[in-house]
Amino acid sequence: MTMRIAVFNQKGGVGKTTTVLSLASALHQSGQTPVAIDMDPQAHLSSVHGNALNGVERSMFSFFQQQTTLRAIEID
Ligand SMILES: Nc1ncnc2c1ncn2[C@@H]1O[C@H](COP(=O)(O)OP(=O)(O)O)[C@@H](O)[C@H]1O
Ligand SMILES: [Mg+2]
Repeated sequence: MTMRIAVFNQKGGVGKTTTVLSLASALHQSGQTPVAIDMDPQAHLSSVHGNALNGVERSMFSFFQQQTTLRAIEID
């Protein structure tokens, strides 16, 4: 079963990123394989992974900035 959870709020600093990171971590520790999709232009959820995401071509950034289609960046 696939579950989709959206965490959003127009206000900054209310714990969105922390909630997603903690939730994904808890799901992973319980044996599941969460996929966290960072749609915030600040990209803090991505930046916590440091340089690990450098060179990644299929991303929400390419969707917003380079007109890449969602189909093209779809996770296999
Ligand atoms: N449950 C919490 N209790 C205390 N501090 C928190 C909690 N959740 C987040 N924070 C802190 O609040 C600040 C903003 O959180 P963040 O997740 O970056 O917010 P947002 O993504 O909404 O901008 C961070 O310093 C974070 O460590
Ligand atoms: Mg954030």
